[in-house]
Amino acid sequence: MKKIGVITSGGDAPGMNAGIRAIVRYGIYLGMQVYGIERGYAGLIEDTIYPLNMRSVSDIVHRGGTILKTARCPEFKEKEGQDRAIEIIKKRGLEGIIVMGGDGSFMGAKILSERGIPTIGIPCTIDNDLPYTDYTIGFDTAGNTALDAINKLRDTMTSHERISIVEVMGRHCGDIALYAGIAGGAEMILVPEKKFTIESLCKKLIESYDEGKKSGIIVLAEGAGHAEDLAREINARTNFEVRATVLGHIQRGGGPSMVDRILATKCGVHAVKLLKKGVGNRVVGIKNNKIIDMDITEAISLKRKFDQSLYNIAEIVSL
Ligand code: ADP
Ligand code: F6P
Repeated sequence: MKKIGVITSGGDAPGMNAGIRAIVRYGIYLGMQVYGIERGYAGLIEDTIYPLNMRSVSDIVHRGGTILKTARCPEFKEKEGQDRAIEIIKKRGLEGIIVMGGDGSFMGAKILSERGIPTIGIPCTIDNDLPYTDYTIGFDTAGNTALDAINKLRDTMTSHERISIVEVMGRHCGDIALYAGIAGGAEMILVPEKKFTIESLCKKLIESYDEGKKSGIIVLAEGAGHAEDLAREINARTNFEVRATVLGHIQRGGGPSMVDRILATKCGVHAVKLLKKGVGNRVVGIKNNKIIDMDITEAISLKRKFDQSLYNIAEIVSL
């Protein structure tokens, strides 16, 4: 394979740029030409594709976001959009594609592979919600951003003897809340995978208040509820004074952590190696600290398993 393209698609994740850099430079090292496709799958439909060289990816390894931009492209879910994309890929002479994104983007990668364009997926999402890989690119950075906020909030909560509810991202997956919550010593961690009632939550808080705990942090994943609503409920039912903070898209930005840059670099290199061999329809990831690849269909059909043992530890070491 001589000519390949790279796409960043879906929600952006810190580390995408480090991945693009690795793909371009490793591709060139193997004698390939690498093309950047702008704004996710929309770039394939609108033909916004341009060559990338060693210098195009200078000075980006430490930057969040993606130099290729990203987009959600509903047209690509339809046959007409896919036909147009295939036409453009052929016209441009691209022999393989690397898609950096989440599970939605991988559906697109599967379709491209099925239609004869070898395509490889690289897991990029801050949510860490792809079951086939232990970690996704962007999760570590986002978790550290949340942790930094938790640390800062704890200072002021302790001074004022208040409770802080910190709402973090994660619609279906509570990993940001779980990891940042444990690392930040949160008194409670609320995730979409674990049901809770306001009554039991307030009961725990009242008990700990009676035992002398006058301040604390509750980390709430967005999929488990809204910080303002929960603050109102706790204010009404306990003696605690509660404040709510929603971190929102701050978690999606910022320079990637060392862990995310290394993971993105390793995944990028592995993806290029697969395409060089003519292999498509695979996703790359990390399992037990080893870079792996797996059939896309198999990867997206796996059901995510919640880390119950880590959650149990959180319950024991909190409050
Ligand atoms: P993520 O990749 O972060 O999960 P999305 O679910 O928004 O983000 O998907 C990103 C893009 O991937 C979509 O806008 C669309 O272009 C493409 N995509 C998602 N689902 C499909 C699908 N079933 N078939 C084809 N393309 C899809
Ligand atoms: O990247 C995943 C995610 O951050 C979710 O946790 C969040 O709900 C969603 O994306 C928001 O994305 P957007 O505002 O781009 O639609």
